[in-house]
Amino acid sequence: MTEQAMPLGNSKAIVTNQTGIHEKLEEVVKKHLNHPSKKPYQAHTVEAFEEIDKVVKAFSGEVILDSCCGVGQSTRLIAKRHPNALVIGVDKSAHRINRNVEELVDDETAQKIDNFYLIRADLNDFYRLVLAAKWPVTKHFVLYPNPWPKSKHLQRRWHGSAVFPEMIQIGQEMILRSNWRLYLEEFQAASTIAGLTGELSSVIDDEPLTPFEAKYKASGQECFQLNIQISK
Ligand SMILES: C[S@@+](CC[C@H](N)C(=O)[O-])C[C@H]1O[C@@H](n2cnc3c(N)ncnc32)[C@H](O)[C@@H]1O
Repeated sequence: MTEQAMPLGNSKAIVTNQTGIHEKLEEVVKKHLNHPSKKPYQAHTVEAFEEIDKVVKAFSGEVILDSCCGVGQSTRLIAKRHPNALVIGVDKSAHRINRNVEELVDDETAQKIDNFYLIRADLNDFYRLVLAAKWPVTKHFVLYPNPWPKSKHLQRRWHGSAVFPEMIQIGQEMILRSNWRLYLEEFQAASTIAGLTGELSSVIDDEPLTPFEAKYKASGQECFQLNIQISK
């Protein structure tokens, strides 16, 4: 395979040695579908989950999950767009989770947006805990996950990971975004192997949902969205 650098404006170009969907995708996805992960949970993620699980259990409306939320800008914006929902942003980086992002205020009511939580946890464990606890998740966002563009890193991408089978059972709908179209094409192909259908489109949101999206848009890159229907 030849090295391919995508022309991505003046922001970082994705350099990949893949020319199409990874040749081992089907094998890897089927292996994970047939052999659920038995990896022990990390204590810090269990503790974080137990705290937020109490909040979820005490809440009676819809829950929205914002995975890999970074500094939580998207979590706040989603909370603003869904004032009656409980929005939970999760990221493994304490540095990002604890960074202060400007407070959001509802334009109409002038109320502070506070229907969200930012949780520091590793999603490899957190997803399994959420699924076992049957959280009533409606939408599950995964915005600009680390692309891991080298072919040898397939299993570091979410669709190549051991937790993929649990991940795609969470929520009624998954919404993924990336500036690397092939990542989403692979996720879509992996979902098809698992019996789900997805639709790929361009991001048309005027207001960037995340700092990464803002950065890509500012440098003229196209961003893509994949919607996976999980249940009605
Ligand atoms: C490229 S950044 C995108 C952040 C944000 N969504 C944005 O668009 O600005 C990817 C994020 O995924 C987080 N992440 C990667 N693997 C994770 C894992 N196993 N559990 C939780 N967060 C993870 C990283 O810490 C990082 O903040």
